[in-house]
Amino acid sequence: MKVKRIALSPSGKKYSINDLNISLNINEGELPRTKLKDDLIQTSKGEYVHLYDANFKDNFVNIQKPAAIINPKDAGMIIAKTGMTKDFVVIDAGAGSGALACTLASLCKKVYCYDINEKHVEAVNQNISDLELNNITCELKDVYTLEPVEKVDLMTIDVPEPWRVLEVAKKALKKGGYLVLYTPQITQAQKAILELDQDFHHEVTCELIKRDWEIEGEKVRPSHTMLGHTAFLTFIRYYPKLVETKIVKKTNPKKSARLERLKHKKELSAEEELKTMNSFNEI
Ligand SMILES: C[S@@+](CC[C@H](N)C(=O)[O-])C[C@H]1O[C@@H](n2cnc3c(N)ncnc32)[C@H](O)[C@@H]1O
Repeated sequence: MKVKRIALSPSGKKYSINDLNISLNINEGELPRTKLKDDLIQTSKGEYVHLYDANFKDNFVNIQKPAAIINPKDAGMIIAKTGMTKDFVVIDAGAGSGALACTLASLCKKVYCYDINEKHVEAVNQNISDLELNNITCELKDVYTLEPVEKVDLMTIDVPEPWRVLEVAKKALKKGGYLVLYTPQITQAQKAILELDQDFHHEVTCELIKRDWEIEGEKVRPSHTMLGHTAFLTFIRYYPKLVETKIVKKTNPKKSARLERLKHKKELSAEEELKTMNSFNEI
């Protein structure tokens, strides 16, 4: 059920309010149902509790997680780096818990997500319903053999063999569209990149390291613990070529002349060295 409002106690503790028609009992006393839409309530124990409307994030934290989910730092990078807008149509494979798919759906026009695990598809559909998203579908399908239903601006891939998605990506992506691989292991990214043909342009593979800080009075320092590794992100752009193209290296005439001179000098010194060696041999 969707969280409607959040009650914030004087100690900073947060309580979720799912039903605005039922009074809520919290440690600080009772919050009467008739006041749940107010901004401030005095509880039955005389404590003041502030209330505010819940947003996507307040609900997102409660999603079912049958599979490891994408970390917000990585989801944020995908959104920023691909220039995702409210007009984007996206394919997300495999959906897992739907964390990435739902995050994208909260911002863009349409998300199609797919997974081969029935339980994961069920959980994702429950999450979609709990988050009240109406622009996302999740189906039980193998993404390696997917027949896309429409052209998309972005494909996000979180499956064990991302190189097997390249042919599907060609059918699915609009010209200039993005293919983003989320791979826990760098060898997965490497294998996919090695299999790219000239219709794909590998922009960058990166890893984001996030370090939290503790700031409490005089104590200002990094946290003792941090999440060491999530995954590598590989950004690939689809630029289908109408004719076979060769990469022609630009040459700088001044640099080329200098290189020629150096080469000539080296050849001369090599010749001289040979002559000297020969004369030694003659002795
Ligand atoms: C780690 S989870 C993805 C988590 C997801 N990115 C999220 O943020 O919630 C990987 C998923 O890929 C699915 N999967 C593996 N191979 C697949 C395939 N060929 N087609 C579709 N889904 C696949 C698995 O069942 C699993 O649920």
